[in-house]
Amino acid sequence: MSSALAEVATSTLDEGKLNAFVGRMLGDVGSIMSGVLVLIGDKLGLYKAMADGRPIGPYELARRTGTNERYIREWLAAQAASGYVTYDAESKKYALPPEQAAVFADEGSPVFLAGCFDIASAVWHDEPKITEAFKTGRGVGWHEHSACLFCGTERFFRTSYNHHLVGEWLPALDGVVAKLERGAMVADVGCGHGASTILMAQAFPKSRFYGYDYHEGSIIAARDAAEKAGVSDRITFEVAAAKDYPAKGYDLVCFFDCLHDMGDPVGAAAHVRQTLKADGTWMVVEPFANDRLEDNLNPIGRIYYSASTMLCTPASMAQEVGLALGAQAGATRVMDVISRGGFTEVRKATETPFNMVLEARP
Ligand SMILES: C[S@@+](CC[C@H](N)C(=O)[O-])C[C@H]1O[C@@H](n2cnc3c(N)ncnc32)[C@H](O)[C@@H]1O
Repeated sequence: MSSALAEVATSTLDEGKLNAFVGRMLGDVGSIMSGVLVLIGDKLGLYKAMADGRPIGPYELARRTGTNERYIREWLAAQAASGYVTYDAESKKYALPPEQAAVFADEGSPVFLAGCFDIASAVWHDEPKITEAFKTGRGVGWHEHSACLFCGTERFFRTSYNHHLVGEWLPALDGVVAKLERGAMVADVGCGHGASTILMAQAFPKSRFYGYDYHEGSIIAARDAAEKAGVSDRITFEVAAAKDYPAKGYDLVCFFDCLHDMGDPVGAAAHVRQTLKADGTWMVVEPFANDRLEDNLNPIGRIYYSASTMLCTPASMAQEVGLALGAQAGATRVMDVISRGGFTEVRKATETPFNMVLEARP
């Protein structure tokens, strides 16, 4: 320790505050270290194999999942220390409580969070690229990340789309559901693996859907997913960027969690305006954020600012203009971008803890 630091250490440190912070950091380090075990549990189906909540020992869990018992015993001990499973010392068995099963095992639950761990895996894996970008100021494109980012993003956001998109978000837009029921033209721009496009196509069979993304790998995965979901007859997925996707006179254009990732969101807004019918609607779903940084210093802001540093800001800086809105720009800033693209009516239609839904009309 340098003499200046040693002096600070002895003279100004408040022992109570230091102990509290070190205690908090031990919790954070435990979360980081155990996060990778969640990823393994998810990949190997360990949580799903315990989803019935019945007590189970390492031998039986290893047998059920085709894994090695010694590894499973250590994994279960770590899960118990994390409070993710319970441990009964007498029977030496472990159980996954229903609340934990909802978070780790049930892909259809409204609080399924396993996808976050794929995203975390991608940001740790790609950290050298971002560290270098801090020095050069250059961007790192969405397409330059490891593949688990694309799957993780789909799994994380799909939870919200499953539970809010058709039942709450679309009905919050003026007159859109009636058009979709009658048969509308819809573009889903920056569609990624197409989870949102497929959900809408399933709900509104008379409408025609076009999913666009500049990342070819995502479009290939989206086509495959549409095929599996049995809706490829009413969805076309194409590689196209937000400023040059084909103008087909859409009734609804959707941007799900991607406007802030774009280098030129004002240019994208101007293109959306040209591709919409005169009475069309642009739905912009963005990560939830308050307008002021000081109002986002909470657990969700912590996740989003971190993801924004590693993913969204570099993605935008890799494209033309490089506006780098960030994932916590807030509704006022995003609505200003939309207005500068030529939209005259912009409002916040609804929100959830993770998302805000904006409606823009030409
Ligand atoms: C955070 S992901 C969201 C994906 C998808 N909408 C979802 O909600 O799961 C952002 C997406 O925007 C796409 N993207 C970024 N810049 C783009 C651009 N200029 N034009 C089209 N797509 C873009 C990325 O390839 C990526 O699929």
